[in-house]
Amino acid sequence: MTTTSATNTAYKTLSKAMYNAALLGSTAALLGWEQETYMPNGGREHRANQLAQLAGMTHKMITAAEIGELLSTSEADASLAGEPTSESAVNLREWRRAYDRATKLPQSLVEEITKTQSLSQGEWAKARAESDFSRFQPWLEKILDLTRQKAECYGYPSDGEPYDALLEEYEPGATAAQIERIFTPLRDRLTPFVAEIAASTSKPAGVLHEIQIPKEDQKALSRFVSESLGFDFGRGRIDETTHPFCSTVGIGDTRITTRYRDDNFADALGSTMHETGHAIYEQGLRGECFGMPMGSTVSLGIHESQSRMWENQVGRSIAFWEWFAPHAKRILGVPALDAFTAERMYRDANIVEPSYIRVEADEATYNMHIMLRFELERALLRGDLSVKDLPAAWNRKFKEYLGIDVPDDRRGCLQDVHWAFGLMGYFPTYTLGNLYSAQFFETIKEQIPDLDDQFRRGEFSDLKSWLNQHIHRQGMRYHAGDLCTHLTGKELGADPLMRHLEGKLRPIYGI
Ligand code: CO
Repeated sequence: MTTTSATNTAYKTLSKAMYNAALLGSTAALLGWEQETYMPNGGREHRANQLAQLAGMTHKMITAAEIGELLSTSEADASLAGEPTSESAVNLREWRRAYDRATKLPQSLVEEITKTQSLSQGEWAKARAESDFSRFQPWLEKILDLTRQKAECYGYPSDGEPYDALLEEYEPGATAAQIERIFTPLRDRLTPFVAEIAASTSKPAGVLHEIQIPKEDQKALSRFVSESLGFDFGRGRIDETTHPFCSTVGIGDTRITTRYRDDNFADALGSTMHETGHAIYEQGLRGECFGMPMGSTVSLGIHESQSRMWENQVGRSIAFWEWFAPHAKRILGVPALDAFTAERMYRDANIVEPSYIRVEADEATYNMHIMLRFELERALLRGDLSVKDLPAAWNRKFKEYLGIDVPDDRRGCLQDVHWAFGLMGYFPTYTLGNLYSAQFFETIKEQIPDLDDQFRRGEFSDLKSWLNQHIHRQGMRYHAGDLCTHLTGKELGADPLMRHLEGKLRPIYGI
């Protein structure tokens, strides 16, 4: 069947409806950003009502029976859907995926999940403050039960498992078995490597992070670095929050936040570069495809690959520090910095040390935190691990992977809000981001051999253009795994990340 005026009209009507839904979604994004940045505390309840209203309206729009009919009509037209990587076929594929998922959950289950999440978060916060897992246990059991029900409603292939249905939300196309195949060799190589680093007697001094620097100077440095990497301030801004994030309000409006600690400017620097990476991705999307999968980001893993690349592959390289050190001294104007060479700053930016808290972990050990969570939440979902045994299992794995004893549940299995919020299948995307980042970067270095020299001169536009062209402007044309194979010629694997970490850290730690 070729395009008739009827199918063409159906596709156009569908596109317009999805554009309108995306407008509502981006309005919610603005309210969400404002809630975290400038909203007075007193506005919380009203803002929650506003956001719930908008979410309800959006859900109603995208699950309307008419959308299903427009999809079916458009899908039947080979000129729209026949060529799998054409723009219309990609849009239809992803709209279908979203429609099916949004219509598969019964309303009663959605409401029970929403209510339980909100109560469970409050109970988690109290349990964490008291470091009392038994208080959170019944809530996690309830969340787990609801999450299993959700996975069954979504469905998964006969050779798959419930975890796959959850992953589909964050990392479309990925399966737990695939992730295990990548994570296992990574874990087996990273565990002894981290132990070698921990045992090394030649460590970076680590005093750079202790220099006191006023917030205003750090703000100037953040803006300088973000702009130098390629964040377009004409189409974005930076503000301050406790937990840094990046949020796109709409075409031409991408906002990042960072945090400043007087006694650790490297913390703000790392956060700023990380969020700048997310923002460069968002700013690189095709504005004319707003509301369409062709104008959307691939997955959380690919999003994280972009933030990690600017934070780690760029921001923790010696070439970057050779360019950046004089600027840091000039902008911060602190005499204590004069004693630091670029080499010393670079070494201090690459400290690796096993620690308890995921969000404070370094580039290498971070992945151990993630792999442990992946293994545990998968075991919980399969029923191989009961909730009451979670703290003991956590502590045992932690000792095995990171070599240190977890002192209490507050610094152990109670540290993250994710499970209390029902976010299972989310954690692996962080390490997938690190893996994709390293693998993409190896390919980019082959194609732009003088990249390090460019960084030494403070030139980052070739890297940004490459990412714009090969990743950002492709929207959701390929799912993450296929994008990786398409760009690098290989399936995602552990080798590039291990080469990146070992190549850099062995000389620094003299091992
Ligand atoms: Co991120």
